[in-house]
Amino acid sequence: MARRPLMAGNWKMHNDHLEAIQLVQQLVYHLDAEDYERTEIVVVPPFTALRSIQTLIDADRLDIGLGAQNCSYEDAGAYTGEVSPVMLAKLAVSYVLCGHSERRQIFCEDDATVNRKVRAVLAHGMRPILCVGETDEQREAGDAERVVGEQLRAGLDGVDAARATEVVVAYEPVWAIGTGKTATPSDANTMCGFVRGQLAERFGDETAQQLRVQYGGSVKPGNVAELMRQSDIDGALVGGASLHADDFAAICRFHRL
Ligand code: PGA
Repeated sequence: MARRPLMAGNWKMHNDHLEAIQLVQQLVYHLDAEDYERTEIVVVPPFTALRSIQTLIDADRLDIGLGAQNCSYEDAGAYTGEVSPVMLAKLAVSYVLCGHSERRQIFCEDDATVNRKVRAVLAHGMRPILCVGETDEQREAGDAERVVGEQLRAGLDGVDAARATEVVVAYEPVWAIGTGKTATPSDANTMCGFVRGQLAERFGDETAQQLRVQYGGSVKPGNVAELMRQSDIDGALVGGASLHADDFAAICRFHRL
């Protein structure tokens, strides 16, 4: 079954709302109807730019999806500094990153927290992009599959099989994020295939064949085509390169490379 590729640009803590508008305008300048048809294209700006980009997407009828980098697992209440999934859904956000390695490592999010976020995102009609991946030391110790398997099992705990195809998994080896070191296409594919195997055990083969598994970690115009030729890689979660309109556009147009 053909899975529609998903290219998501995770801007991290970059771009105020004015810069954000500019970047999206520059991005769409490089894209055409065929690109949108072949590939689902999503930008994932900081919270403060969501409303501006949503307005731009609406006004110019852009075929670009909107994602958020994080969200609370609570709907409302005394949670200073948190952003509710209800608020994100109201802004037409369709994807939310859950458990990005920077959230796990810097902000101490554990699997149980990530799981609550995954379920909250689904409960509000959005799609979680569940990020999983091993560190350098874990890979060296031969532990990559065990670590990723456990992140998947815990992250998807309690997710109803009927909603499973709305989940996206991003396999992002921590040692490849922002380092310029990319996993080789075949190593990345092996791990994305392992992820799909785990998803098949959890949700059944048919569902696992529909689920999209992205690769993330130093994806650039120069390596995206080879990564996308792999059987189990259905798109990319792109950090650094998504901050440059021409680079991210080239990644979205990987089929032309
Ligand atoms: P990178 O980031 O492309 O800059 O390596 C990827 C990510 O953190 O999702």
